[in-house]
Amino acid sequence: MKILTYPHPSLQRKSAAIKVFNKELAKIAKDMFQFMYKLNGVGLAATQVGLPYSIAVINPSRKTSDEIVLINPRFTKTSRETVREDEGCLSVPGLSARVKRHSGVTCEYHNLKGEKVVLEARELLARILQHEIDHLNGILFIDRLADDERKILLTKRPAKTKDEDI
Ligand code: CO
Repeated sequence: MKILTYPHPSLQRKSAAIKVFNKELAKIAKDMFQFMYKLNGVGLAATQVGLPYSIAVINPSRKTSDEIVLINPRFTKTSRETVREDEGCLSVPGLSARVKRHSGVTCEYHNLKGEKVVLEARELLARILQHEIDHLNGILFIDRLADDERKILLTKRPAKTKDEDI
């Protein structure tokens, strides 16, 4: 797998819903977890590795028991309360910014068996869910910033390194 970085056009594409839950899909999820751990990420969306499907993997702790595979996720509830915290992204290497997010969310998705799951999350997990589901909709965290803030941030973008072509 190879991580796509800003401004790759595939990062702006909306992913397609998954309808078949088979071994190939489980293999994709497994590969995505391995790749995410290798890059020291807490979340990875398929759009970031050039796969146009609605699947993302999340693990805030690296414990296997905390692994979440989100397939066709959508929010059913978002809190009115918002919070600004520092956020970064494997697809926008070297940059981070304070991003406003809902402090709590309820998310509905399918697991690898095709079962519907409802997940209520707050704080860090809520933030990761919003970040990854944004990816599946073609949105990066920098798109959530004010125009002038984004422009200033992008001037600090480091030169491309070979590490991005893992
Ligand atoms: Co990201």
